[in-house]
Amino acid sequence: MIQLRSVSFAYGEKQVLQGVSFSVDDGEAVAIMGPSGSGKSTILRLILGLENASDGEVIVDGHDIGKLRESKRRQIRKNIGMVFQEGALFDSLTVGENVGYYLLEHSKLKWEEIDQRACRMLGEVGLNCDEVIDLLPEQLSGGMRRRVAIGRALLSTDPTIMLYDEPTTGLDPRSTHNILGLIEQLHREKNLSTVVVTHQIADAIAIADRYVVIIDGHMVFDGSLDELRDSRDPKVLSFLAPFRASVTGVIESRLSDVVAQNESESPQEES
Ligand SMILES: Nc1ncnc2c1ncn2[C@@H]1O[C@H](COP(=O)(O)OP(=O)(O)O)[C@@H](O)[C@H]1O
Ligand SMILES: [Mg+2]
Repeated sequence: MIQLRSVSFAYGEKQVLQGVSFSVDDGEAVAIMGPSGSGKSTILRLILGLENASDGEVIVDGHDIGKLRESKRRQIRKNIGMVFQEGALFDSLTVGENVGYYLLEHSKLKWEEIDQRACRMLGEVGLNCDEVIDLLPEQLSGGMRRRVAIGRALLSTDPTIMLYDEPTTGLDPRSTHNILGLIEQLHREKNLSTVVVTHQIADAIAIADRYVVIIDGHMVFDGSLDELRDSRDPKVLSFLAPFRASVTGVIESRLSDVVAQNESESPQEES
């Protein structure tokens, strides 16, 4: 479980976050949305304990991470998989070395064992191990690189929390759809707590249980899809406005999916 309690943060003189509070329950998928520069990536850095809140608390797995020593923070980070913006792969390492990097650096496993685990992980994120394991990142498509980055985060520490920073930025619509599908599938199958940062609202709507909107460092919304659709808060409305047409369609179809799912999961259907 992750909890931000009245968190404020500044880079020097520049106030970035002010009084932000929200939580991510175990097994929940939360989307953090907001325009560029609103403080979304900073929130992920605070959750990882890479920055310290100037005010308030960031609780991760029961610990106020800002108050821990670095060695203890590192232990908590072991439960967290982070997929950085653009994937941030090592250009000069092969796909296999990228995915196995953490184990290479931090475990005593033999290379053959790491190689096998990397290969299995590539399968889990939907890549053909034999075809890609010896390639360099530049030889892959954008969508494949994102899959490698997700595999690397998952293999590192077998996390219970996954953080994704703008996971579909720069991808074409088909790859976007596929990557969102993978994030959703991993979330469900591994029962992960998932936080997805995005400025692409349709993406957020496709995968989250709950939605947080950050504008200029202030949290202006925290709620469900229904509540987001029905919000009359002027700040939320103006954030959603440019996407209204595309989003209304997505919301409507997602809501009807949810209704259909609930119906098909009802006990009458099962018996
Ligand atoms: N290392 C840094 N030093 C100073 N300012 C920064 C730094 N990183 C980000 N910022 C500023 O903090 C604000 C929030 O950044 P960020 O969290 O990256 O926003 P988002 O992810 O929503 O685009 C921006 O105005 C950005 O310019
Ligand atoms: Mg960002």
